[in-house]
Amino acid sequence: MAKRKKLKLGAVIEGVGWNYMSWRHPDMPADASENIEFYVKQAKIAEAAKFETLFLIDVSHVGPGNIPHYLSMFEGVSIMSALSMVTKNIGLSATIASSYADPYSAARQILSLDKISKGRASVNIITSNAGGMVNFSRGHLSESDSYPMQKEFMEIVLGLWDTYEDDTFIRDKARGIYFDPRKMHTINYRGKYFSVDGPLNISRSVQGRPVLYTAGTSSSMIENAARYTDAALILGESLEQAKAMTTELKKRVASKGRSPEDFIVAMTQTPLVGRTEKEAEEKFREMERLIPLYRIQKPVFFGSAEKVADQIQEWYEAGAMDMIMVRQEYPTGLKDFVDLVVPILQDRGIFRTEYESNTLRGNLELPIPEHRYVKV
Ligand SMILES: Cc1cc2nc3c(=O)[nH]c(=O)nc-3n(C[C@H](O)[C@H](O)[C@H](O)COP(=O)(O)O)c2cc1C
Repeated sequence: MAKRKKLKLGAVIEGVGWNYMSWRHPDMPADASENIEFYVKQAKIAEAAKFETLFLIDVSHVGPGNIPHYLSMFEGVSIMSALSMVTKNIGLSATIASSYADPYSAARQILSLDKISKGRASVNIITSNAGGMVNFSRGHLSESDSYPMQKEFMEIVLGLWDTYEDDTFIRDKARGIYFDPRKMHTINYRGKYFSVDGPLNISRSVQGRPVLYTAGTSSSMIENAARYTDAALILGESLEQAKAMTTELKKRVASKGRSPEDFIVAMTQTPLVGRTEKEAEEKFREMERLIPLYRIQKPVFFGSAEKVADQIQEWYEAGAMDMIMVRQEYPTGLKDFVDLVVPILQDRGIFRTEYESNTLRGNLELPIPEHRYVKV
């Protein structure tokens, strides 16, 4: 069997957090979700800890009942582009909804981010929760349409990212040859939902193409992931649920003739850790007191740093995930995880102590995909 990859870590950068109360904590800047200095600080914490990636979860529409974070937050590609200039190794991922966005524009934006960051971009192409019809001139689709639409979206994006072969652009000033047109490819895609000819107007990435994620829970999500993506983002409600989902995803990837070791299952978690169990309990009670009538759930990964590290090791060794996307509710949630849990995971040899590569694919230990028009 292939050697197991090291655990991967991502930091979900979501300002005031995915909840109703964190913005009220005295240590949380109330405008964190649209505060560039806050994002830079979080990005630097994650990069210093050698996380593989930053990650942004997104919404397609908002209303008064939404959590504060979603009411006023940065758009993903914009904030990731800004963060690419203040980081060097860490990956940058935005989320784009295939039910609402346009695949040509998405392919162009993400490949631009990849070139700006010199091979560190990725995108999470999700069908998205219902509701975008109010903003995107399009009705939300049922699963019977949304996943077939996502399939077309992914086929187009992947096709466009192979518009140019690696050596297309000669840029020979003396001979006046800018590029070799035989190495430029169109896709001429005609689908039920999208029609795109190509070519795209940006050259191929040093990492082959941006890393592609998707997220969801259904068999249709698994099918599109198994065919097209490098990674899937899942929920991590319990060890059993996550293990079953990961096993199914890897099985389906293998059924497409792909290597399951080269497919990453990432899970979202909101760890709350303290130096001791008591300290974690105190942090939890602090959060509870911020909205007394609102009941909050204890995170799945909760307690002393040693206990949380044990839990992560157990889940990782059981094959419940390859990667954790760390979210934070407590104002110093990411920093506490980095300061207290990451060193234990490093001591145990589960998580890296240095970046191995300058590209996201390199650090995720994913191979550079072959160009579809270049026979090796
Ligand atoms: C782990 C996870 C992350 C998700 N992230 C997003 C997101 O960032 N934005 C969004 O609009 N929907 C998000 N979704 C919703 C999915 O895109 C999808 O619409 C929903 O889960 C229904 O599809 P399913 O039946 O495959 O679960 C997420 C779902 C899961 C399980």
